[in-house]
Amino acid sequence: MTIRSTARALLLSACAGLALTAASQPARAAGSVEVVHWWTSGGEAAALNVLKKKMEGQGVAWKDAAIAGGGGAQARTVLQARIASGNPPTAMQMLGYVIQDWANEGALANLNEVAKRDGWDKVVPVPLQRFDKHDGVWVAAPAGIHSTNWVWVNKALFDKVGGAVPNSFPEFLALAQKFKEAGVIPLAHGGQPWQEMTVFDGAVVSAGGPEFYKKAFIDLDKAALTSDTMKAAFDQLRKLRGLVDPNFSGRDWNLATAMVIRGEAGMQIMGDWAKGEFAAAGKEAGKDYVCFRYPGTQGTVTFNSDAFAFFKVGKDQQAGQALMAADVLSPDFQVEFSLLKGSAPARNDVPSDRFDSCGKKAIADIKEADARGSLLGSMAHGHAAPEAVKGAVADVVTGFFNSDMSSADAVKKLAAAIDLTR
Ligand code: BGC
Repeated sequence: MTIRSTARALLLSACAGLALTAASQPARAAGSVEVVHWWTSGGEAAALNVLKKKMEGQGVAWKDAAIAGGGGAQARTVLQARIASGNPPTAMQMLGYVIQDWANEGALANLNEVAKRDGWDKVVPVPLQRFDKHDGVWVAAPAGIHSTNWVWVNKALFDKVGGAVPNSFPEFLALAQKFKEAGVIPLAHGGQPWQEMTVFDGAVVSAGGPEFYKKAFIDLDKAALTSDTMKAAFDQLRKLRGLVDPNFSGRDWNLATAMVIRGEAGMQIMGDWAKGEFAAAGKEAGKDYVCFRYPGTQGTVTFNSDAFAFFKVGKDQQAGQALMAADVLSPDFQVEFSLLKGSAPARNDVPSDRFDSCGKKAIADIKEADARGSLLGSMAHGHAAPEAVKGAVADVVTGFFNSDMSSADAVKKLAAAIDLTR
């Protein structure tokens, strides 16, 4: 069923809601909320728990609708089915273009009253507002800003092999070789399409720089998509494929992070939700692990922002919904959540002093990239292009990673697959 027909079913259902009303007094019992999300790893669950506890403290019952599966594809499928049967949750964790899709279908609530009262326009970074607002109406509240072009490294192994932070892809390969010689798996990887896509975000920036990434992945420019530079990005991916262990297929991302934490693997290329796993395991940045940007991408940030999108729901859920929206963007939640999640806050006015070195770097990198126009939406996580395009890219990237397809064939397939979606 398409997003359009599912949304029509929603609108025909008894659930067509009213505009969201402003939050009532915190101490007052305010019903319940049901929240769909895919935060099931140790770090993710710990971070979400901050919101759950905050809301329970305000007398709102929390009904958890967790749907496991990193990157959220499974959760998005379940959501479609729920909407089709006229049973929307109060809120769902959502990424980028998907928020706009549901807003286009008229399925999302109007948060403007809360947003105006709490001054969201002034404190939420503009690149996020483009996804969380629809036709001037706030429909989602961002919980944080993640980015995908990161490498996470086991510090003891890094020191043991005399590692230095690589500034280029060849330097990265040299570091990987050192890990290999030391008898550890150079790169921990989970073979799932969204994880391969996550790695590819970095490869595209590394091969061509931010302008190229923008042309290829945001403007979907055919010349860029079929260029030698795009071939070079696939060449990087081919090299990375040679660094992973034979059991990578289907492995969850957090299990790959655990391999780095335990010292079975030297590095993982993954979004900074991996930092949440290190934190959940009691590991400290700079002491137990090292973080750096995907080689050759320093200065660019490929971001994705988890937001809670709020559905039109019946009166019984509206007070809880308004409280939740306000809570998500409250300064204290933004900090507590990101400390556990590995993200940077989605407000530009909260202090960074409690963040560790990797967290501070994330916050500084985002600021710098925003200023120089290189804060770019992640293709892997729904912030560069609509879902259909993302799916087409994922098929080619995963097909490439899991076969001996040449880079020349991959770029042809990539352009053709994107063409079919338009
Ligand atoms: C989300 C993160 C999440 C990751 C792995 C990403 O799409 O933005 O919040 O931790 O998937 O599940």
